[in-house]
Amino acid sequence: MERGSIDPVEELREVVTHLKKLIADDRDMGLEPPALSSSTLKYLQRGASSFDSLEDLRDFMGECKRCKLWRGRTNLVFGEGSPTSRLVFVGEGPGREEDMAGEPFVGEAGKLLTKIIENGMGLKRSEVYICNVVKCRPPQNRDPEKDEIEACLPFLEQQLKIIRPEVICTLGRISAQALLGREFKISRERGNWFSFMDIPLMPTYHPAYLLRNPSAKRQVWEDAKKIMRHLGLEVRENGQA
Ligand code: URA
Ligand code: SF4
Repeated sequence: MERGSIDPVEELREVVTHLKKLIADDRDMGLEPPALSSSTLKYLQRGASSFDSLEDLRDFMGECKRCKLWRGRTNLVFGEGSPTSRLVFVGEGPGREEDMAGEPFVGEAGKLLTKIIENGMGLKRSEVYICNVVKCRPPQNRDPEKDEIEACLPFLEQQLKIIRPEVICTLGRISAQALLGREFKISRERGNWFSFMDIPLMPTYHPAYLLRNPSAKRQVWEDAKKIMRHLGLEVRENGQA
């Protein structure tokens, strides 16, 4: 370490020690501890793996500023759908329309995803759960960066822990890569079963890719049928979106 530079761990330790002392002084003087939301208190008391519900988790995130994407967002897009869904779709991150609406997959790609779910798989969109790796829109829809994915991934992990679906379907390269924790070659590796937190994971193309390459719909339908068979859903062979 250079002379005069500050060791960040030491600095944090000092800050925490100082804060503890301030809080203890307040308590000794009969003052209330600093106001924390009930979900934050629960989190502090019971540790990181402890959200009872998606609402609790959303509460805990608040107006999240844990990575630089907060600066460009209009709305944090947490995710939507059934908290008891057997199937969770994971996209990359909100686009412009999702950012405006505060809901995932509501633009053109979202309409196509909805068709795949409803016309193809015979489910209702509200029956499944849909979310993204990063919850805030990257500027100009660029790919989320490594530090942004790292900051936001714990929230996706918590969502999956709470929902405990039977299948995760990742949409596109970025979400497969984020959950599998390695480089992912979507054209070569999609359509095969992987696993995340012991939950079977099926990676397929992103619906935005299908808008540009309609012929890839056939492969997505193959992947969707694998999911349907795994879930014991009836597969209608003509059920293409
Ligand atoms: N693309 C994504 O990856 N997620 C959305 O929510 C919308 C578009
Ligand atoms: Fe927080 Fe995730 Fe938004 Fe970053 S992208 S500010 S970590 S919610």
